[in-house]
Amino acid sequence: MHPLQHYFDTIEDMKKKGLYTPIRVLESAQGPWITIDGKKVLNFCSNNYLGFAQDRRLVSAVVKAVKKYGIGAGAVRPISGNMTLHMEAEKALAKLKGAEAAFLLPGGFIANIVAVATIVGKEDIVISDELNHASIIDAIKLAQVKTKFIYKHNDMAELELRLKEAVAAAKTPKSDGQKPVILVVSDGVFSMDGDIAPLPRIVALAKKYGAITMVDDAHGEGVLGDGRGIAAHFSLHGKLDIEVGTLSKAFGVLGGVITGKKELIEYYRQKGRPYLFSTGLTVADCAAVIEGVKILTKSKSLVKTLWSNAAYLKKELEKAGFNTGVTQTPITPVMLGDENLAKEFSKRLYERGVFATPIKFPMVAMGKARIRVMPSAVHTKKDIDYGVAAFVAVGKELKVI
Ligand SMILES: Cc1ncc(COP(=O)(O)O)c(C=O)c1O
Repeated sequence: MHPLQHYFDTIEDMKKKGLYTPIRVLESAQGPWITIDGKKVLNFCSNNYLGFAQDRRLVSAVVKAVKKYGIGAGAVRPISGNMTLHMEAEKALAKLKGAEAAFLLPGGFIANIVAVATIVGKEDIVISDELNHASIIDAIKLAQVKTKFIYKHNDMAELELRLKEAVAAAKTPKSDGQKPVILVVSDGVFSMDGDIAPLPRIVALAKKYGAITMVDDAHGEGVLGDGRGIAAHFSLHGKLDIEVGTLSKAFGVLGGVITGKKELIEYYRQKGRPYLFSTGLTVADCAAVIEGVKILTKSKSLVKTLWSNAAYLKKELEKAGFNTGVTQTPITPVMLGDENLAKEFSKRLYERGVFATPIKFPMVAMGKARIRVMPSAVHTKKDIDYGVAAFVAVGKELKVI
């Protein structure tokens, strides 16, 4: 028997339980309509909120930059891979987010790892929302934090209780004599449900108990606060200690970013292991985000269209009888519950020319499967009508509505 046979069997078991995810291949550029298996389908599940992944202005900026700078950084930035474009992109992002400084990393997932694991260790304390993104959960694991509290989703009364416990635990100094750091961490927009963390309350509570705050703004940039993100949405500039973001959603490329006080960013730059030991972002990623920030700064029209498309989509789905959960943002989950139902629903949508993957365990808790519809600024009303009509037809076939 192969030493890894157990894992191979797991795949078969996942297929039986409807938990296996076949991964489709896009044969065209991202966009409201894409080609899969030679067939044009409506794209109803990408994070390309503003259409930047295929925006001609970003493409031109990238082509121009690639002609001048080539394609890659060639090394980790602290050795010889630190390019003008990295510095420009960081400056642009800091300005957009209203922060003192920004720090680019090779992905949002990695940015969360760096943001947490560089400043908290075994003897520090973390308080985390139960629905935080997997990268935050993994960051806490990697930091090997012994005292961690997971509070009920967005439950501020429980957060306060946990903060009190944390303050009591922090009375014991660490082995180096320092006071333990208490970090409160939350997603800004929860990626699977689309609801928003009550950040002003989190910040006020953290301040009251001497904790620091971190927010993951992956689904806020390009979406909330006229595209500037969650700090702008709640007018919390300078009040959040650590903001993490991604270039991989609204900005349409790949990369992660941490923003905050100059001194903190300096510390991350000197100590963040994935920065010290992983190559800098590509020229294309940097050039695209610089152009993306320019567009967002000049005009609010894409962000406005994104929100009006989202409102229209939600209204139509709800009118048809679908449950879209607790969303407050363009993320529009169509709640189905059963994993196999979600899988079958998605399959039938696809047969009707709509691409919307099922979201199921482990992306969400078992029994909370859904189809997460992601409208964008570049969908037309006609596109949304087409998608909703397919949802209604499949919903009736499968007796969801
Ligand atoms: C809330 C949240 N944080 C972080 C990430 C990771 O970002 P990236 O795709 O840039 O690694 C994601 C993407 O799935 C996300 O939804």
